[in-house]
Amino acid sequence: MARVAKSNGGSVPEEAYQSRTAVSHSMNLKAREYLPGGDSRSTIYYTPYPMFFARGEGCYLYDADGNRFLDFTCNHTSLILGYGHPEVKRALGEQIEMGTCFPGPTEPQIRLAQMICERTPSMERVRFANSGTEATMNAIRAARAFTGRPKVVKAEGAFHGTHDTMEISIAPDPQQAGSQDRPIGLQHVEGIPGAVFQDVVIMPFNDPNGARRIIEEHGDEISSVIVEPVMGSAGMIPATQEYLDTLREVTRKLGVLLIFDEVITYRLAPGGAQEYYGVTPDLTCLGKMIGGGLPLGVFGGRADVMALFDPVPGRPAIHHGGSFNANPMSLVAGAATLEQLTSEEYGNLARLGDKLRRNLEELFIDMELPARITGLGSLFGVHLTGEPVNNYRDAQRGNTALRHQIFLGMLNEGIVMDPRGAGCLSVAIGESEIDDFVTTMQRVLNSIDYTNFC
Ligand SMILES: Cc1ncc(COP(=O)(O)O)c(C=O)c1O
Repeated sequence: MARVAKSNGGSVPEEAYQSRTAVSHSMNLKAREYLPGGDSRSTIYYTPYPMFFARGEGCYLYDADGNRFLDFTCNHTSLILGYGHPEVKRALGEQIEMGTCFPGPTEPQIRLAQMICERTPSMERVRFANSGTEATMNAIRAARAFTGRPKVVKAEGAFHGTHDTMEISIAPDPQQAGSQDRPIGLQHVEGIPGAVFQDVVIMPFNDPNGARRIIEEHGDEISSVIVEPVMGSAGMIPATQEYLDTLREVTRKLGVLLIFDEVITYRLAPGGAQEYYGVTPDLTCLGKMIGGGLPLGVFGGRADVMALFDPVPGRPAIHHGGSFNANPMSLVAGAATLEQLTSEEYGNLARLGDKLRRNLEELFIDMELPARITGLGSLFGVHLTGEPVNNYRDAQRGNTALRHQIFLGMLNEGIVMDPRGAGCLSVAIGESEIDDFVTTMQRVLNSIDYTNFC
């Protein structure tokens, strides 16, 4: 019989974690004197305190206590080549000699723009910002300006950055959020103006008919539908082909712009998930890996929509300022990264991702622990539930207390993954690291006292 894993577990992994990370602990206490919570990134906080990192090399990370870890986060999918790739370092070294930012455009901007446009089906024109948040904010604004319509549709549970419009229904309590096929928008953080809610419509993920019905109901008020081809924040849940095909078909019919948020999924193929699925959106947002480890956001797509940002002649319809937009450091790091990503590398990432997901699945079955492994290409998610995981609400059924024990247990054994039970591969990871991950997971699962989870 499958083991039932519920409720709050023992604290053995937490004690071990604390004893291994004493320097991180004291740094956290010191940081709290100046920074609320001791950091500036809410999304990576976990209890009892996050580790402070000192350096990274290839697929390894070193924390402030001198512990070495095998890294399966790649700074949450950003570092597809791993830490400190020599070609990225070389490009940055050359650029730093020339200057880190300028009061006008530079050649690296043309180079990276050309690379992105040539490989990405939807990208006829692009603009560079500093983060994925800025990319989705500008894409949504462009869609509103282009269509003259106010509303945007997003999927329940999806994270598209931290601007007001997208801080809705990222991690809602399902009890408060209406029915699964007709979710109610709920605010994710305090401080969002009430007016924002009027113009954000929530659709279910991976429910083609439910999404279609909602989009059609709001019809000519909708400017855009934004969707991640693999929902990252809920634990790397791939969209079905039918779901993306339906969104493409219904948006085209209604004159609504389809925006793909490929901040995470651009790592799936040279042209991103849109190439993988064969669905071309009107606009696309990139971030994370496109900056090669430095801050960069990209938004782009149809030339007629992107023309809104053209300042010639006269005033642009959309003013897009930013002191560090298209900074050459991020651009050369991004270009150096794309240059390394041959089709063989994408193939390897997908093959190793498949192997990891398959071996994890077998492990949980052998151990009679209810779990579902999701993901695509180099992305994976571990969900501690026996039911299929196709959307945010399915993922919510997972056992979060046990997940935290596993996360800390993996850290104690020298492996870093996303505290939400997800992760990804870089090209620095090979067969033996995949095997290490699975055998370490087995050790961690064996060490847990499941009587604490009944
Ligand atoms: C799918 C997706 N979109 C947008 C963002 C926001 O990107 P950034 O953190 O660079 O602002 C993220 C960040 O995690 C993301 O995962």
